[in-house]
Amino acid sequence: MREKPRILVTRRHLADVEARLHSDYDVVLNEDDHIMSAQDIIAAAKGTEALFICVTEPLGAKTIKALPKSVQAILTLSVGTDHIDLAAAAERGLAVLTTPDAVTDPTAEVGMLLMLGAARRAHEASRYLRGGKWQTWSPTQFVGIEITGKPLGILGMGRIGRTVAARARGFDMRVHYRNRNRLPPDLEGGAVYFNDLEGFLGASEFLMLCAPSTPETRGFLNADTIALLPDGAIVVNIARGDLVDDDALIAALKSGKLAAAGLDVFNGEPANIDRRYFRLPNAFLVPHIGSAAQQARTAMGMMLLDGFDALRAGEPVSNRVV
Ligand code: DGY
Repeated sequence: MREKPRILVTRRHLADVEARLHSDYDVVLNEDDHIMSAQDIIAAAKGTEALFICVTEPLGAKTIKALPKSVQAILTLSVGTDHIDLAAAAERGLAVLTTPDAVTDPTAEVGMLLMLGAARRAHEASRYLRGGKWQTWSPTQFVGIEITGKPLGILGMGRIGRTVAARARGFDMRVHYRNRNRLPPDLEGGAVYFNDLEGFLGASEFLMLCAPSTPETRGFLNADTIALLPDGAIVVNIARGDLVDDDALIAALKSGKLAAAGLDVFNGEPANIDRRYFRLPNAFLVPHIGSAAQQARTAMGMMLLDGFDALRAGEPVSNRVV
């Protein structure tokens, strides 16, 4: 019988994914789901062909260089790759597989959830109700901002940005976007392309960050760019925390320059989030749950394992980024 390939799995996964891991592979499982240090990973990877990781395991150049020679591939349960030094992986001849498509719909859903929650003051209203404070209905209570028919600026019109645009059109939002390149008309779907930053931000009563974390996008939302947004704008981040300068965003939420923000991702997450956000009633916050849906998390795991099987069989791998 052919030997099963050995895989280091750094986190616990949904039942179907773990069932396949156990049946098809020789799995080194992190039973108690603790966050493994780089040293733990290097040691546990001995004799494995692949590392099945998440955004919780940063693999820098030093770690990648120190991985056992047996390791051929990194499978990451994410579409983002900012936690992996891709150049170092390429230099080591490692394949890197990600989970495009599977995360698109659920992440766009969370984008809509955050936009609606921030605009309609969902956090404040829910907290008030649960706090037992609700005594009477009032015409002036928790008056928010309707998203229907409003302009929405999307930074990053990849798969997730385009899906947000499609969902937003269901609310009659008028979508415009900024992207590294203008999209062909069939992918634009009627969204207006802005090359100039001032024009893009000036039109964004709602702004959603959907771009990957790259040297060009890091720190995109800062005091200068916030100043270019219309007064009372609402911003949403479903990309990565480092697209935002927290000092600038917090100051704008406090001053009222921005009406509200909806955030799924944070600088320093999870342990070192800027805790000033917790005290802002106009910040609608969720803990990086973009792809946290049963269907998506199962599809993500299966996609990585399918890709790994194809890689071993010498077949084309559509979700290989390196
Ligand atoms: C992604 O896919 O990059 C999510 O942020 C985490 O899985």
